[in-house]
Amino acid sequence: MCGIFCYLNYLTPKTKKYILETLLNGLKRLEYRGYDSAGLAVDLCSGDVKQTVIVRERGKVAALEDLVRLNKELNMNEMCTNHCGIAHTRWATHGEPAPRNSHPHRSDANNTFVVIHNGIVTNYMDIKKFLMSKGYSDFESETDTEVVAKLALYIYNEQPSITFQKLVETLIEMVDGAFAFLFKSSKFPDEVIATRRGSPLLVAIKSRMEMMTEYFPILYSSDINAQSRKVAQSGDMPSGVALNGHVPPPSAVPSTTASVEAGEFKLGGMEPVEYFFASDASAVIEHTNKVIYLEDGDIAHVDNAGGLRIVRTKKKHANEKEFRYITELQLSLEQIMKGEYGTYMEKEIFEQPESVVNTMRGRINFETGQVKLGGLVEYLDDIKRSRRLIMIACGTSYHSALATRQILEELSQLPVMVELASDFLDRNTPIFRDDVCFFISQSGETADSLMALRYCKKRGALCVGVTNTVGSSISRETSCGIHINAGPEIGVASTKAYTSQIISLIMFALLISADRISMHERRKEIIRELKTLPGKIQKVLDLRESLQELAMKYYKEKSILVMGRGYNYATCLEGALKIKEITYMHSEGIMSGELKHGPLALVEPTMPIIMVAVKDSVYVKCQNALEQVTSRGGWPIVICDEDDTVLESIVEKNRKSKQEGAPITVKVPKTVDCLAGILTVIPFQLLSLYIAVANERNVDCPRNLAKSVTVE
Ligand code: F6R
Repeated sequence: MCGIFCYLNYLTPKTKKYILETLLNGLKRLEYRGYDSAGLAVDLCSGDVKQTVIVRERGKVAALEDLVRLNKELNMNEMCTNHCGIAHTRWATHGEPAPRNSHPHRSDANNTFVVIHNGIVTNYMDIKKFLMSKGYSDFESETDTEVVAKLALYIYNEQPSITFQKLVETLIEMVDGAFAFLFKSSKFPDEVIATRRGSPLLVAIKSRMEMMTEYFPILYSSDINAQSRKVAQSGDMPSGVALNGHVPPPSAVPSTTASVEAGEFKLGGMEPVEYFFASDASAVIEHTNKVIYLEDGDIAHVDNAGGLRIVRTKKKHANEKEFRYITELQLSLEQIMKGEYGTYMEKEIFEQPESVVNTMRGRINFETGQVKLGGLVEYLDDIKRSRRLIMIACGTSYHSALATRQILEELSQLPVMVELASDFLDRNTPIFRDDVCFFISQSGETADSLMALRYCKKRGALCVGVTNTVGSSISRETSCGIHINAGPEIGVASTKAYTSQIISLIMFALLISADRISMHERRKEIIRELKTLPGKIQKVLDLRESLQELAMKYYKEKSILVMGRGYNYATCLEGALKIKEITYMHSEGIMSGELKHGPLALVEPTMPIIMVAVKDSVYVKCQNALEQVTSRGGWPIVICDEDDTVLESIVEKNRKSKQEGAPITVKVPKTVDCLAGILTVIPFQLLSLYIAVANERNVDCPRNLAKSVTVE
């Protein structure tokens, strides 16, 4: 939800053209996070005082790029030795997509403070009222973010000698909600401040200086918070607004920079250096692989001598980590490029024979049947002793939990609950110390899942992350976990992450049952099938032409019903979600056991229906469901095993003359029941892709959605 990017060059002269291209490219990599509008702020480098120019446009980054090109104020050949530019791509929460609601937002007509934001400021109305009462009334947008820019100016005006860092420390004390902010100011030229609470943010460093350490120390600031809170209590301001015109003087605040400046660990500072701030690593990988993931409460400040420091206002608890890791990214640029494919989604669907191998690599020994999940080793005994397993997730990740619940129950012999994170929180679900809670999330940043994680952690449950994003909030805040290793997923619709999530959870089920003799044969069968899975996925992908044909049959329809049960119920929900989200067609996943309790009323000859039925323990029941549908004039397409002739003949006998020649089945290779969902979901991924393409939808960036949902 919203992409944040900043490029700061210090003692590395760059043309304005280079700076703008770097900002725009960074935004393009983040566009999957939100794409209804975009904007940037850069400085005019000639002249004594650097003046900030803001360019904002509705629509995708390409539209902003056009507007930048037309901007008369910007001289592309101008050389900037030191410069800080910030850029943003938006997913609207407050205010319609429009240039005035796009970021960067500004404090005043002079662009004294400009800010970009990912998240939601929940007390923005209170802050706005407060600011208006102080005469700051020239609001230009309907956003929650603009108040933050104006609040920065207010704090500055009240205390003109305040440092940039103190200003931001003071400001974030007054803001409720979730955020990642980047601040830039003409009062503090060539500096930037980044801070986060609940939304992802990283800083990447490109420097000739060799980094002699993997650790970056944290500095702790004064107790400024306590002071401003005291002021708030004494005044009648709305909660969260703590200023009341009294910013603690900087002299009252011990310097926080000395130890970095005096110490051996100093980045920048008379050394050429470039910094990038971004919502995620895909935006920086073409520049550097040295990254620090910021944590909630961190304030990262690049000063006007090119030095970087990370400050926290105070320690939350005694054993809080006093450093951040400098991570070396393993990502490559090719991994995030589309290559020969028309869309990222298509690329990611066709990558699945490889991505599932990457998920299993080094974890399953197909000879001995041994399964190893490095991230769980220390916690396995605790997990085995637990009272129940609870899988908590949203959207597609939730479907992967549903798809594996049955095998987890069978192999672990533990009760397994599956929860939608939002509903789980709404219900204040009881959680106990001997519960093990799994948080499944491709991005590792989904706000509802993250809130549920914090809720469970507080109640003493063991929290396990299953994510695709190293360094994400969920992977950091859980005690242990499984990295699904599917590689970067950029298309908004999740595809390869889903199949890798299923495999990860099945590997966990195999691991937890390794010493159960009674499960021996069952485990062997699953492991054997996991080995052949990549080839079978390829066979399903080879059906693309017939799925393209099917898409041409369906693409003008208004609705598609998807029916199945058992392991394939998850496929129905996930298939319907894929259709909905990228084609905008209505689609519903129906548990076929429920047909006669309502959904049968929808069945008629013209209603498009897809049924999923493979030869597993519910096969006969699926056959009955098919009979129920065809005997009411329904004429479904059936996704079934490649050797199935029974289902085909049921549909065939009901074929009407006008349906002649149309396909009846989509046949997928036979596999063990718990893996069938991986093969049966791929026809839906392809079908939705081809329907979306036929309707000229934006496959990678469907309307109203974003890849990483960091707002509740
Ligand atoms: C659908 C889709 C979403 C996500 C959901 C959770 O294709 O991508 O439903 O699955 O927003 O996201 P993560 O897995 O990042 O927590």
